[in-house]
Amino acid sequence: MDEDRKLDLALRPRELSEFVGQERTKKILGMSIKAARGRDEAMDHVLLSGPPGLGKTSLAHIIAREMVVNVRVTSGPALERQADLAGILTNLEKGDVLFIDEIHRLQKPVEERLYSAMEDFDFHMMVGEGMGAHTMKLSVNPFTLVGATTRSGLLSSPLRDRFGQHFHLDFYDHAELGEIVRRSADLLKMAIDDNGATEIASRSRGTPRIANRLLRRVRDFAQVNEAPVVTREIALAALDLLEIDTAGFDKMDRAILGAIIDKFDGGPVGVESLAAAVGEESDTIEEVYEPYLLQEGFLARTSRGRVATQRAYAHLGRVRRGTML
Ligand SMILES: Nc1ncnc2c1ncn2[C@@H]1O[C@H](COP(=O)(O)OP(=O)(O)OP(=O)(O)O)[C@@H](O)[C@H]1O
Ligand SMILES: [Mg+2]
Repeated sequence: MDEDRKLDLALRPRELSEFVGQERTKKILGMSIKAARGRDEAMDHVLLSGPPGLGKTSLAHIIAREMVVNVRVTSGPALERQADLAGILTNLEKGDVLFIDEIHRLQKPVEERLYSAMEDFDFHMMVGEGMGAHTMKLSVNPFTLVGATTRSGLLSSPLRDRFGQHFHLDFYDHAELGEIVRRSADLLKMAIDDNGATEIASRSRGTPRIANRLLRRVRDFAQVNEAPVVTREIALAALDLLEIDTAGFDKMDRAILGAIIDKFDGGPVGVESLAAAVGEESDTIEEVYEPYLLQEGFLARTSRGRVATQRAYAHLGRVRRGTML
């Protein structure tokens, strides 16, 4: 495991009370957990959606911890055959959490087997082939499925409807990110003042994982430059070196906006052409880059494709052709 991933684990909130922000989600989840525990039942299945790095995996582990049950972790692409799912389901103890990450990437036959497991805690497994084919019913202990997805729109409605609760995680505001940065700095035993934390928070694209990543790079910078405390000046110098701009955009964010403006005359442009222009996968553009650019109003989506907004022109210091100044 590389150093960044180790630190990611160390910084992961363990309990709802340590999980910053997403107040509505925390409130409802906390209530569901308490009620299910009171009845000594498995909690209703939970679907968590939202852009990468906002805390879906953390929440799945928190649910298991607060329910005081085991958590089994797998992912859509890892469950290749129905036997893979059968093996996991039949080994769950009563009330356990099964966490399926990237649940929108489940194979259709596996997904269909999941329906009755979610509904009746039965697993119907196809055995044999041709004339001898039949289904075998395996029983499964009541469990809680926690599904995570960056693309809830790609989920089929039969699957989506079987989740009793759906929480969409939103980008975090600067104050919440500042709190996360200070908490992480504490855990890393690193001295940072409020202005330093605010500077990192405001350049984190609304995303805790990015806030933690920037904090670690700033920590390296401070150490090499023998700065005892991370102040605003130290944070700024480090972030400039990393080419993170005032909006928190990295090179790819700027490349995307720049391409729409310079190569496609401001758009509209389809995501495939855009992907080809910047040399990135179209899925990555849609899942990782676009959501924040859309939310912050640098990009707009129309039926004919993506369009750069006035804000994007202003941020990149470009002038819109045909616009009166
Ligand atoms: N609400 C939060 N409070 C504090 N730290 C958080 C919070 N949400 C996320 N983090 C931090 O961000 C990191 C990334 O979170 P997590 O892995 O849970 O995101 P994710 O939504 O599962 O991302 P992905 O979609 O890429 O799997 C965690 O290791 C944790 O340190
Ligand atoms: Mg995750």
